[in-house]
Amino acid sequence: MNTQQTNQNVSEEAALLDHDCDGIREYDNPMPAWWTGIFWLSILFALPYFAFYHLGGVGTTLADNYETEVGAFYEMQAAKLGNLKPDAPTILTLATDGQKMLAGRNMFRANCATCHGPDGGGLTGPNLTDDHYINIRQPEDIFRVVHDGLPSKGMPEWASRFSEPQLVLLAAYVASLRGTHASAPRDPQGDRIGPWSTPSAATPPTVTTAVGE
Ligand code: HEC
Repeated sequence: MNTQQTNQNVSEEAALLDHDCDGIREYDNPMPAWWTGIFWLSILFALPYFAFYHLGGVGTTLADNYETEVGAFYEMQAAKLGNLKPDAPTILTLATDGQKMLAGRNMFRANCATCHGPDGGGLTGPNLTDDHYINIRQPEDIFRVVHDGLPSKGMPEWASRFSEPQLVLLAAYVASLRGTHASAPRDPQGDRIGPWSTPSAATPPTVTTAVGE
């Protein structure tokens, strides 16, 4: 009876698989070519897609976009804030505020990365992630350098571009870069200075303000 059925149609006979399990036989029914085509194409597509968004850092993922948006929001907020003082307590407190530092990171990547590298490791400008600084002894010095620039050394001034609170935010971001890991750090330049919280031994006397003077 089995043979009778299968003999009915030659093409069905050809598509039957060889094995026979208690009289149960199966057809070889491959997926249609268009389906297999899409299947393989999607795998091929996934390889560069993954590399583009997750390995090379070229494309931006949804998470990146979200962080950029949050950063832009705080950058806008900072422009309106009038009460960010360019002093060490404000700068150091801001430096530990993850969300506000997203704004700092945005501003840094857009304006400073060309010379200091996207992660602060330094390019033509010095490395900002190590403990060595040329012009910085205290967190306030970061604000001063960014505000006024060092025109003769190739560091532009930013006071004409950003409001004071934005510059405080930027200075806080630079302070927070210290001790982070840069992918291709430049060799240290300048003097090694003490941790931000305590005044370093290298502090020039002019920076300390004595009470009662
Ligand atoms: C055109 C290149 C350039 C750009 C853009 C630039 N910098 Fe600089 N920056 C320099 C150079 C060069 C120096 C080193 C000056 C020196 O030798 O004293 C420097 C020094 C500094 C220093 C002091 C580092 C030290 O060790 O004394 C800080 C802080 C700094 N830059 C922050 C920033 C920030 C923040 C931005 C973006 C708002 C920025 N820079 C944009 C070139 C640049």
